[in-house]
Amino acid sequence: MVVVSGTHEEEVSATYDRTKELKEFDDTKAGVKGLVDAGMVKVPRIFVHHPPNALLHEGLPGSIHNNNHSQTQTQTHLNLPTIDLGDGVIDKDVILRNEIVEKVRHASETSGFFQVVNHGIPQTVMDEMLEGIRRFFEQDTEVTKQFYSRDYANRRVVYNTNFDLHSSPAANWRDSMYCFMGPQPFNPEELPETCRDILMEYSDQVKRLGIILFELLSEGLGLKSNRLREMGCEEGHSLLCHYYPACPEPELTMGGSKHADNGFLAILLQNHIGGLQVFHQNQWVDVPPTPGALIVNIGDLLQLISNNKFKSAEHRVLAQKVGPRLSIACFFTTTFLPSTTIYGPIKELLLEDNPPVYRETTVLEYTTYYMAKALDGTSALENFKLQTSSSEEKK
Ligand code: OGA
Ligand code: NI
Repeated sequence: MVVVSGTHEEEVSATYDRTKELKEFDDTKAGVKGLVDAGMVKVPRIFVHHPPNALLHEGLPGSIHNNNHSQTQTQTHLNLPTIDLGDGVIDKDVILRNEIVEKVRHASETSGFFQVVNHGIPQTVMDEMLEGIRRFFEQDTEVTKQFYSRDYANRRVVYNTNFDLHSSPAANWRDSMYCFMGPQPFNPEELPETCRDILMEYSDQVKRLGIILFELLSEGLGLKSNRLREMGCEEGHSLLCHYYPACPEPELTMGGSKHADNGFLAILLQNHIGGLQVFHQNQWVDVPPTPGALIVNIGDLLQLISNNKFKSAEHRVLAQKVGPRLSIACFFTTTFLPSTTIYGPIKELLLEDNPPVYRETTVLEYTTYYMAKALDGTSALENFKLQTSSSEEKK
Protein backbone atom coordinates (compact mmCIF):
# COMPACT_ATOMS: atom_id res chain seq x y z
CA MET A 1 0.00 0.00 0.00
CA VAL A 2 1.38 3.37 -0.95
CA VAL A 3 1.28 5.59 2.05
CA VAL A 4 0.73 9.23 1.32
CA SER A 5 1.08 11.18 4.48
CA GLY A 6 -2.14 12.46 5.94
CA THR A 7 -4.52 10.99 3.38
CA HIS A 8 -7.66 9.02 3.91
CA GLU A 9 -6.07 5.93 2.25
CA GLU A 10 -3.39 5.87 4.85
CA GLU A 11 -5.90 6.22 7.62
CA VAL A 12 -7.96 3.27 6.48
CA SER A 13 -5.13 0.92 5.67
CA ALA A 14 -2.48 1.52 8.27
CA THR A 15 -2.74 1.25 11.98
CA TYR A 16 -1.03 4.07 13.71
CA ASP A 17 -0.42 5.21 17.21
CA ARG A 18 -3.39 7.51 17.48
CA THR A 19 -2.93 8.03 21.19
CA LYS A 20 0.60 9.23 20.61
CA GLU A 21 -0.38 11.59 17.78
CA LEU A 22 -3.21 13.04 19.85
CA LYS A 23 -0.85 13.63 22.74
CA GLU A 24 1.76 15.29 20.53
CA PHE A 25 -0.86 17.58 19.08
CA ASP A 26 -2.38 18.34 22.49
CA ASP A 27 1.05 19.11 23.93
CA THR A 28 1.58 21.90 21.40
CA LYS A 29 -1.25 23.80 23.17
CA ALA A 30 -1.49 25.78 19.94
CA GLY A 31 -4.70 24.23 18.68
CA VAL A 32 -5.90 23.66 15.13
CA LYS A 33 -5.03 27.29 14.51
CA GLY A 34 -1.41 26.41 15.30
CA LEU A 35 -1.44 23.77 12.54
CA VAL A 36 -2.85 26.20 10.02
CA ASP A 37 -0.43 28.93 11.03
CA ALA A 38 2.43 26.46 10.53
CA GLY A 39 1.33 26.05 6.91
CA MET A 40 -0.39 22.64 7.17
CA VAL A 41 -2.05 21.84 3.83
CA LYS A 42 -3.24 18.30 4.64
CA VAL A 43 -5.65 17.42 7.40
CA PRO A 44 -3.69 15.25 9.88
CA ARG A 45 -5.21 11.80 10.29
CA ILE A 46 -6.35 12.36 13.87
CA PHE A 47 -8.94 14.74 12.35
CA VAL A 48 -10.16 12.43 9.58
CA HIS A 49 -13.74 11.23 10.06
CA HIS A 50 -15.02 7.85 8.83
CA PRO A 51 -16.58 7.71 6.42
CA PRO A 52 -15.25 11.04 5.33
CA ASN A 53 -17.63 13.93 5.45
CA ALA A 54 -18.14 13.99 1.68
CA LEU A 55 -19.37 10.39 1.53
CA LEU A 56 -21.63 10.74 4.52
CA HIS A 57 -23.32 13.94 3.70
CA GLU A 58 -23.44 14.23 -0.06
CA GLY A 59 -22.55 17.84 -0.29
CA LEU A 60 -21.34 20.91 1.38
CA PRO A 61 -23.06 23.90 2.91
CA GLY A 62 -25.38 25.84 0.72
CA SER A 63 -27.20 22.72 -0.36
CA ILE A 64 -29.99 20.96 1.48
CA HIS A 65 -29.35 17.26 1.64
CA ASN A 66 -32.29 15.12 0.81
CA ASN A 67 -31.01 11.59 1.11
CA ASN A 68 -33.99 9.33 1.37
CA HIS A 69 -37.19 11.13 0.58
CA SER A 70 -38.77 9.06 -2.09
CA GLN A 71 -41.72 11.41 -2.65
CA THR A 72 -39.80 13.86 -4.74
CA GLN A 73 -36.09 13.18 -4.77
CA THR A 74 -35.75 16.89 -5.39
CA GLN A 75 -34.12 19.24 -2.97
CA THR A 76 -36.50 20.74 -0.50
CA HIS A 77 -35.76 24.03 1.14
CA LEU A 78 -36.56 23.79 4.76
CA ASN A 79 -36.16 26.95 6.72
CA LEU A 80 -36.03 27.19 10.45
CA PRO A 81 -38.44 29.77 11.82
CA THR A 82 -37.23 33.24 12.66
CA ILE A 83 -39.21 34.61 15.59
CA ASP A 84 -39.48 38.35 16.13
CA LEU A 85 -39.40 38.98 19.87
CA GLY A 86 -40.51 42.59 19.35
CA ASP A 87 -37.79 44.19 21.51
CA GLY A 88 -39.58 44.15 24.82
CA VAL A 89 -43.16 44.82 23.68
CA ILE A 90 -44.12 41.25 24.59
CA ASP A 91 -44.47 42.36 28.19
CA LYS A 92 -47.11 44.90 27.20
CA ASP A 93 -49.00 43.33 24.33
CA VAL A 94 -50.79 40.14 25.41
CA ILE A 95 -52.00 39.18 21.94
CA LEU A 96 -48.53 39.53 20.45
CA ARG A 97 -47.06 37.60 23.36
CA ASN A 98 -49.44 34.71 22.79
CA GLU A 99 -48.53 34.62 19.11
CA ILE A 100 -44.85 34.49 20.00
CA VAL A 101 -45.42 31.74 22.60
CA GLU A 102 -47.21 29.74 19.94
CA LYS A 103 -44.30 30.09 17.51
CA VAL A 104 -41.77 29.18 20.21
CA ARG A 105 -43.84 26.15 21.21
CA HIS A 106 -44.19 24.94 17.64
CA ALA A 107 -40.49 25.32 16.85
CA SER A 108 -39.47 23.67 20.13
CA GLU A 109 -41.75 20.70 19.47
CA THR A 110 -40.65 20.16 15.89
CA SER A 111 -37.10 21.18 14.98
CA GLY A 112 -35.98 22.23 18.47
CA PHE A 113 -34.19 25.12 16.71
CA PHE A 114 -35.22 28.65 15.82
CA GLN A 115 -33.67 32.05 15.28
CA VAL A 116 -34.73 35.17 17.16
CA VAL A 117 -34.54 38.79 16.03
CA ASN A 118 -35.37 41.98 17.96
CA HIS A 119 -34.20 40.05 20.99
CA GLY A 120 -32.84 43.08 22.83
CA ILE A 121 -29.08 42.43 22.47
CA PRO A 122 -27.61 45.36 20.54
CA GLN A 123 -25.78 44.65 17.30
CA THR A 124 -22.74 46.49 18.67
CA VAL A 125 -22.53 44.02 21.57
CA MET A 126 -22.79 41.01 19.25
CA ASP A 127 -20.15 42.44 16.89
CA GLU A 128 -17.79 43.22 19.73
CA MET A 129 -18.32 39.76 21.22
CA LEU A 130 -17.22 38.15 17.96
CA GLU A 131 -14.28 40.53 17.72
CA GLY A 132 -13.31 39.78 21.33
CA ILE A 133 -13.20 36.07 20.60
CA ARG A 134 -11.11 36.67 17.53
CA ARG A 135 -8.68 38.72 19.62
CA PHE A 136 -8.44 35.91 22.16
CA PHE A 137 -7.62 33.19 19.64
CA GLU A 138 -5.35 35.36 17.51
CA GLN A 139 -3.21 36.81 20.28
CA ASP A 140 0.30 35.61 21.12
CA THR A 141 0.07 31.84 21.70
CA GLU A 142 2.16 32.21 24.85
CA VAL A 143 -0.85 33.92 26.41
CA THR A 144 -3.52 31.50 25.19
CA LYS A 145 -1.39 28.56 26.34
CA GLN A 146 -1.84 29.71 29.93
CA PHE A 147 -5.51 28.84 29.61
CA TYR A 148 -4.93 25.45 27.95
CA SER A 149 -6.54 22.82 30.17
CA ARG A 150 -9.21 20.12 30.37
CA ASP A 151 -10.18 20.79 33.97
CA TYR A 152 -13.73 22.14 33.59
CA ALA A 153 -14.66 21.38 37.16
CA ASN A 154 -12.03 23.61 38.75
CA ARG A 155 -11.21 26.33 36.25
CA ARG A 156 -13.29 29.35 35.28
CA VAL A 157 -11.74 29.49 31.80
CA VAL A 158 -10.67 26.48 29.75
CA TYR A 159 -9.08 26.74 26.30
CA ASN A 160 -8.36 23.61 24.26
CA THR A 161 -9.00 21.71 21.05
CA ASN A 162 -12.06 19.46 21.56
CA PHE A 163 -13.17 18.68 25.11
CA ASP A 164 -13.25 15.03 24.00
CA LEU A 165 -10.00 15.01 21.99
CA HIS A 166 -8.73 11.82 23.63
CA SER A 167 -12.02 9.91 23.63
CA SER A 168 -13.92 10.81 20.45
CA PRO A 169 -13.70 8.68 17.30
CA ALA A 170 -12.22 11.60 15.32
CA ALA A 171 -11.13 15.11 16.23
CA ASN A 172 -12.98 18.22 15.08
CA TRP A 173 -11.41 21.12 13.22
CA ARG A 174 -11.95 23.74 15.88
CA ASP A 175 -10.48 25.29 19.00
CA SER A 176 -12.67 26.39 21.89
CA MET A 177 -12.56 28.62 24.93
CA TYR A 178 -15.03 27.91 27.69
CA CYS A 179 -15.98 30.43 30.39
CA PHE A 180 -18.14 29.49 33.34
CA MET A 181 -20.16 32.66 34.05
CA GLY A 182 -22.29 31.96 37.05
CA PRO A 183 -24.61 31.77 39.02
CA GLN A 184 -22.17 33.08 41.67
CA PRO A 185 -20.50 36.46 41.07
CA PHE A 186 -16.75 36.24 40.48
CA ASN A 187 -13.77 38.47 39.87
CA PRO A 188 -13.71 39.45 36.15
CA GLU A 189 -9.90 39.32 36.31
CA GLU A 190 -10.26 35.56 36.05
CA LEU A 191 -11.33 36.11 32.43
CA PRO A 192 -8.84 36.61 29.56
CA GLU A 193 -7.87 40.25 29.27
CA THR A 194 -8.38 40.39 25.48
CA CYS A 195 -12.14 39.90 25.80
CA ARG A 196 -12.90 40.41 29.50
CA ASP A 197 -15.18 43.44 29.27
CA ILE A 198 -17.26 42.15 26.39
CA LEU A 199 -17.57 38.69 27.95
CA MET A 200 -19.07 40.32 31.05
CA GLU A 201 -21.36 42.56 28.99
CA TYR A 202 -22.53 39.83 26.61
CA SER A 203 -23.00 37.42 29.48
CA ASP A 204 -25.39 39.82 31.25
CA GLN A 205 -27.34 40.47 28.09
CA VAL A 206 -27.61 36.85 27.00
CA LYS A 207 -28.69 35.83 30.50
CA ARG A 208 -31.50 38.41 30.31
CA LEU A 209 -32.58 36.98 26.97
CA GLY A 210 -32.42 33.49 28.44
CA ILE A 211 -34.85 34.50 31.18
CA ILE A 212 -37.31 35.85 28.58
CA LEU A 213 -37.02 32.61 26.61
CA PHE A 214 -37.55 30.42 29.68
CA GLU A 215 -40.76 32.35 30.36
CA LEU A 216 -41.98 31.88 26.80
CA LEU A 217 -41.00 28.20 26.90
CA SER A 218 -42.86 27.71 30.21
CA GLU A 219 -45.96 29.22 28.66
CA GLY A 220 -45.44 27.05 25.59
CA LEU A 221 -45.58 24.02 27.87
CA GLY A 222 -48.90 25.31 29.23
CA LEU A 223 -47.33 26.20 32.58
CA LYS A 224 -47.15 29.50 34.42
CA SER A 225 -44.48 31.72 33.00
CA ASN A 226 -42.00 31.44 35.85
CA ARG A 227 -42.21 27.65 36.15
CA LEU A 228 -38.89 26.84 34.44
CA ARG A 229 -37.18 29.67 36.28
CA GLU A 230 -38.49 28.40 39.60
CA MET A 231 -36.97 25.04 38.77
CA GLY A 232 -33.59 26.74 38.39
CA CYS A 233 -33.13 26.21 34.64
CA GLU A 234 -31.60 29.64 34.14
CA GLU A 235 -29.47 29.51 37.26
CA GLY A 236 -26.08 28.79 35.74
CA HIS A 237 -24.73 29.69 32.33
CA SER A 238 -21.48 29.36 30.46
CA LEU A 239 -20.09 30.75 27.23
CA LEU A 240 -18.42 28.32 24.85
CA CYS A 241 -16.52 30.29 22.24
CA HIS A 242 -15.40 28.44 19.12
CA TYR A 243 -12.76 29.28 16.52
CA TYR A 244 -12.96 27.19 13.32
CA PRO A 245 -9.86 27.92 11.22
CA ALA A 246 -10.08 27.67 7.44
CA CYS A 247 -9.60 24.02 6.54
CA PRO A 248 -7.52 22.85 3.56
CA GLU A 249 -9.53 19.61 3.09
CA PRO A 250 -12.99 20.23 4.58
CA GLU A 251 -14.47 17.07 3.06
CA LEU A 252 -12.25 14.87 5.28
CA THR A 253 -13.18 16.30 8.65
CA MET A 254 -15.86 18.17 10.58
CA GLY A 255 -15.99 21.50 12.39
CA GLY A 256 -18.20 19.88 15.01
CA SER A 257 -19.51 16.31 15.04
CA LYS A 258 -23.19 15.56 15.24
CA HIS A 259 -24.49 16.05 18.79
CA ALA A 260 -27.36 17.41 20.86
CA ASP A 261 -26.63 20.04 23.47
CA ASN A 262 -26.06 19.42 27.12
CA GLY A 263 -27.97 21.79 29.43
CA PHE A 264 -31.48 23.23 29.30
CA LEU A 265 -31.15 25.78 26.52
CA ALA A 266 -28.53 27.20 24.17
CA ILE A 267 -28.34 30.62 22.54
CA LEU A 268 -25.81 30.83 19.72
CA LEU A 269 -24.16 33.78 18.03
CA GLN A 270 -22.31 32.95 14.78
CA ASN A 271 -20.33 35.07 12.34
CA HIS A 272 -20.93 35.21 8.58
CA ILE A 273 -19.11 32.03 7.47
CA GLY A 274 -21.80 29.36 7.94
CA GLY A 275 -21.59 25.57 8.22
CA LEU A 276 -24.02 24.91 11.07
CA GLN A 277 -26.70 22.35 10.24
CA VAL A 278 -29.58 20.84 12.20
CA PHE A 279 -31.07 17.40 11.57
CA HIS A 280 -34.75 18.01 10.88
CA GLN A 281 -37.34 15.90 9.04
CA ASN A 282 -34.69 13.34 8.29
CA GLN A 283 -32.32 15.68 6.56
CA TRP A 284 -29.55 18.12 7.35
CA VAL A 285 -30.80 21.68 7.12
CA ASP A 286 -28.48 24.67 6.99
CA VAL A 287 -28.79 27.28 9.70
CA PRO A 288 -27.60 30.21 7.62
CA PRO A 289 -25.93 33.21 9.23
CA THR A 290 -28.63 35.85 9.52
CA PRO A 291 -27.51 39.39 10.38
CA GLY A 292 -28.77 40.43 13.80
CA ALA A 293 -30.25 37.03 14.62
CA LEU A 294 -29.37 34.64 17.41
CA ILE A 295 -30.02 30.91 17.20
CA VAL A 296 -31.92 29.26 20.04
CA ASN A 297 -32.04 25.53 20.61
CA ILE A 298 -33.49 23.20 23.18
CA GLY A 299 -30.95 21.24 25.24
CA ASP A 300 -31.17 17.66 26.46
CA LEU A 301 -32.24 18.62 29.99
CA LEU A 302 -35.24 20.57 28.69
CA GLN A 303 -36.21 17.60 26.54
CA LEU A 304 -35.96 15.46 29.67
CA ILE A 305 -38.07 17.68 31.95
CA SER A 306 -40.63 18.33 29.18
CA ASN A 307 -40.89 14.54 28.78
CA ASN A 308 -40.00 14.72 25.07
CA LYS A 309 -42.45 17.51 24.24
CA PHE A 310 -39.57 19.81 23.36
CA LYS A 311 -36.81 18.38 21.17
CA SER A 312 -33.09 18.64 21.73
CA ALA A 313 -32.14 18.34 18.07
CA GLU A 314 -28.92 16.94 16.70
CA HIS A 315 -26.76 19.44 14.93
CA ARG A 316 -23.25 19.65 13.53
CA VAL A 317 -20.84 22.06 11.92
CA LEU A 318 -19.23 21.34 8.55
CA ALA A 319 -15.61 22.34 8.11
CA GLN A 320 -15.05 25.08 5.54
CA LYS A 321 -12.36 26.13 3.09
CA VAL A 322 -12.78 29.67 4.36
CA GLY A 323 -12.41 31.02 7.82
CA PRO A 324 -12.16 31.60 10.57
CA ARG A 325 -15.72 30.81 11.53
CA LEU A 326 -16.48 32.16 14.98
CA SER A 327 -19.36 31.25 17.25
CA ILE A 328 -20.35 31.76 20.85
CA ALA A 329 -22.76 29.30 22.45
CA CYS A 330 -24.37 30.24 25.74
CA PHE A 331 -25.48 27.12 27.62
CA PHE A 332 -27.92 27.40 30.48
CA THR A 333 -26.76 24.82 33.00
CA THR A 334 -24.75 24.76 36.22
CA THR A 335 -22.42 22.22 34.56
CA PHE A 336 -20.09 20.72 37.19
CA LEU A 337 -21.27 22.72 40.21
CA PRO A 338 -22.35 20.50 43.08
CA SER A 339 -26.10 20.13 42.57
CA THR A 340 -28.81 18.68 44.75
CA THR A 341 -31.84 19.74 42.69
CA ILE A 342 -33.48 16.70 41.17
CA TYR A 343 -34.78 17.01 37.61
CA GLY A 344 -37.27 14.64 36.09
CA PRO A 345 -40.27 15.00 33.78
CA ILE A 346 -42.45 17.86 35.12
CA LYS A 347 -45.36 16.30 37.00
CA GLU A 348 -48.05 18.57 35.51
CA LEU A 349 -47.15 17.36 32.03
CA LEU A 350 -47.63 13.69 32.85
CA LEU A 351 -50.86 11.94 32.03
CA GLU A 352 -51.97 8.34 31.85
CA ASP A 353 -51.19 8.29 28.15
CA ASN A 354 -48.04 10.35 28.66
CA PRO A 355 -46.07 8.46 31.30
CA PRO A 356 -42.57 9.57 32.26
CA VAL A 357 -39.99 8.66 29.64
CA TYR A 358 -36.98 9.57 31.78
CA ARG A 359 -35.76 8.88 35.26
CA GLU A 360 -34.77 11.68 37.60
CA THR A 361 -31.24 13.02 37.61
CA THR A 362 -29.15 16.02 38.62
CA VAL A 363 -27.40 18.49 36.34
CA LEU A 364 -24.06 17.25 37.68
CA GLU A 365 -24.86 13.60 36.97
CA TYR A 366 -26.11 14.43 33.50
CA THR A 367 -23.11 16.63 32.65
CA THR A 368 -20.63 14.06 33.93
CA TYR A 369 -22.18 11.40 31.73
CA TYR A 370 -22.36 13.70 28.69
CA MET A 371 -18.74 14.82 28.93
CA ALA A 372 -17.39 11.31 29.49
CA LYS A 373 -19.36 9.92 26.57
CA ALA A 374 -17.73 12.31 24.05
CA LEU A 375 -19.32 13.44 20.80
CA ASP A 376 -19.59 9.92 19.46
CA GLY A 377 -22.76 10.39 17.44
CA THR A 378 -25.14 8.91 20.02
CA SER A 379 -27.60 10.68 22.31
CA ALA A 380 -26.72 11.05 26.00
CA LEU A 381 -30.44 11.16 26.81
CA GLU A 382 -30.79 7.45 26.01
CA ASN A 383 -28.94 6.68 29.21
CA PHE A 384 -31.63 8.40 31.27
CA LYS A 385 -34.61 6.63 29.69
CA LEU A 386 -36.75 4.51 31.94
CA GLN A 387 -36.74 0.89 30.84
CA THR A 388 -40.13 0.34 29.24
CA SER A 389 -41.35 -1.20 26.03
CA SER A 390 -38.83 0.90 24.11
CA SER A 391 -36.01 -1.27 25.44
CA GLU A 392 -36.15 -2.96 22.05
CA GLU A 393 -34.03 -0.10 20.71
CA LYS A 394 -31.25 -1.03 23.08
CA LYS A 395 -30.29 -4.22 21.29
C1 OGA B 1 -22.00 23.77 20.39
C2 OGA B 1 -22.38 23.94 18.98
C3 OGA B 1 -22.34 25.25 17.00
C4 OGA B 1 -21.56 26.32 16.35
O1 OGA B 1 -21.13 24.52 20.89
O2 OGA B 1 -22.59 22.88 21.03
O3 OGA B 1 -23.16 23.19 18.49
O4 OGA B 1 -22.10 26.90 15.41
N1 OGA B 1 -21.86 24.97 18.30
O5 OGA B 1 -20.43 26.57 16.74
NI1 NI C 1 -24.22 22.20 20.01
